[in-house]
Amino acid sequence: MQITKARELGFCFGVRRALRIIESTADSRVRIATLGPIVHNKTVVERLQRLGVDVIDDLEKLTGRLVAISSHGASPATLQKLSDRGFEAIDTTCPIVRSAQKAAQRLAKTGFSVIIYGEANHPEVQGLLGWAGESATASMDANKILPTITGKRVGILSQTTQIHAEFAFFINQLTDRLLPQIQEIRVANTLCQETQKRQQTAKELASSSDLMIVVGGHNSANTRRLSEVCAPVVETYLIENCDEIDTRWLRGKKAIGITAGTSTPDEDIEQVIQTIKSIAG
Ligand code: F3S
Repeated sequence: MQITKARELGFCFGVRRALRIIESTADSRVRIATLGPIVHNKTVVERLQRLGVDVIDDLEKLTGRLVAISSHGASPATLQKLSDRGFEAIDTTCPIVRSAQKAAQRLAKTGFSVIIYGEANHPEVQGLLGWAGESATASMDANKILPTITGKRVGILSQTTQIHAEFAFFINQLTDRLLPQIQEIRVANTLCQETQKRQQTAKELASSSDLMIVVGGHNSANTRRLSEVCAPVVETYLIENCDEIDTRWLRGKKAIGITAGTSTPDEDIEQVIQTIKSIAG
């Protein structure tokens, strides 16, 4: 059995940067709270917890003074609330997400109704909505968005980790239906190249594999995207760690491809590879 890793996989620079910031501040004597996990990966979250970094889902649950903003960023309202209450914010927002926030803010300030292509409940999209003004909406479904558009100028951007081809399809659908009724459509390309490279190399590897294993958090948007691009090409499974491997998947498979989300540490990837090797004998 041959096991091949995708050319681009695992931690991206935004996640490495976020972890560097948080680890250099963490001190087990002074606990830091993070608004949602710093990254969507259980191994990383547990390691940070041992360093004194706790995850909270609500500002009301804050007990200490130090609060970390995750790599997904936060809305201006959340940042304002933290400052009003005297908390010290450690900002690990990825620079690519920050650029998307600025694009959303710029569009809103210049009179565009902003549409965000993305999962409305994802923390990054929640933050982007906050920067995009009151008329902003988020969805992955152009048909749902269309009836809500009333303005004459529409700005479109994407959650950073979405799939290039699907964002293009969404733009086409909107443009086609909106052109008769509006004056201007402006598109900001806010897709992250790190995730695009991982999706591209995962797809290439899938085409020469009998099975693809995608390693990463089930709650990680970019990990799910990797699974979505491989699944139409070859049998694909998304697992969080080696305990989720089902030996039946490996029967009769000669070429196994491995890829991993941008928040998956190398140790999780290596454990999966070693487990597959030991099953294969
Ligand atoms: Fe940033 Fe892209 Fe990673 S948005 S956190 S570099 S996936």
